[in-house]
Amino acid sequence: MPREFDQFTITDEVIDRFKNTPNPRLKQLMEAVVRHAHALVQETQLTETEWSFAIDFLTRTGQTCSDRRQEFILLSDTLGISMLVDAINNAVPAGATQSTVLGPFFVQDAPVAQNNSRIDLDDDHGGQPLYAEATFTDLQGNPIESAKVDVWHSDEQGNYDIQYGPDASLTRRARFVTGKDGRVTFWTSLPAAYPIPYDGPVGQMLAAANRHPWRPAHLHYMVDAPGFKHLTTHIFVNGDQYLESDAVFGVKKSLVDDFPERPAGTAPDGSVVDRPYRHLVWHFKLPHLDHTLPGSFAAPTSRSSPTD
Ligand code: BEZ
Ligand code: FE
Repeated sequence: MPREFDQFTITDEVIDRFKNTPNPRLKQLMEAVVRHAHALVQETQLTETEWSFAIDFLTRTGQTCSDRRQEFILLSDTLGISMLVDAINNAVPAGATQSTVLGPFFVQDAPVAQNNSRIDLDDDHGGQPLYAEATFTDLQGNPIESAKVDVWHSDEQGNYDIQYGPDASLTRRARFVTGKDGRVTFWTSLPAAYPIPYDGPVGQMLAAANRHPWRPAHLHYMVDAPGFKHLTTHIFVNGDQYLESDAVFGVKKSLVDDFPERPAGTAPDGSVVDRPYRHLVWHFKLPHLDHTLPGSFAAPTSRSSPTD
């Protein structure tokens, strides 16, 4: 006789079908996916129409992805999943710089730049000049040499370079490598707040929920230094109206700065500026890789990947 399953027995049966999965982490993840997905259907008594809609939504989310757009990252970000994964994986010791969401606008192999150069290379959109100074040290304040530091940010209209089309040139992004002093300094223009791309399925979800798509103005920094924990973070501009309601939940109080205005005149790098400019001075502190965190939730490094 064939076995048949009803709404009370099917979940255990599906979980049982994963019992021979050789990779233990994949087995654990698949069992949890089944358990939680079935619980969602049970809890909401999902209708067939609703399930079809959900499948269509996910299909459109995939179809919206291209090499310049990642709608699934936006979905993860707007559901708070990106920041939950970040919180679980990036607990840092007291005093270390906190991380936040990566977002979809990072580009590998950004142009390499030297300290004090200008990274807003296209025509002047009228944004206020910004001089950004950063020092990268360990938790004791010793400068970190040879750190690769990627920076990227929106322009004064709230757009990233790659949003201007496939032929747009890269600007407002650069890669620096720190010297012995652990410093990275550059000129650019003050970024503006911007809506995450909302002309696709994720935007429709936000609109259906009466949620706005805005992110407060920020600079992105990504730091890779030999022997130190990787850091992906932002520095947010204080006073921004979206600091309290970031569409992707990425704001942390420790990452907000005033970006104070300085009068026209001689800037810290000795150059002369003919109008008032904004000034960011930030001290990034990175823990050593072997720093152990009391009570940390960090995953054991020996955990095997579900695809092994
Ligand atoms: C960003 O900061 O670039 C970003 C993060 C999450 C979603 C969209 C944009
Ligand atoms: Fe951003």
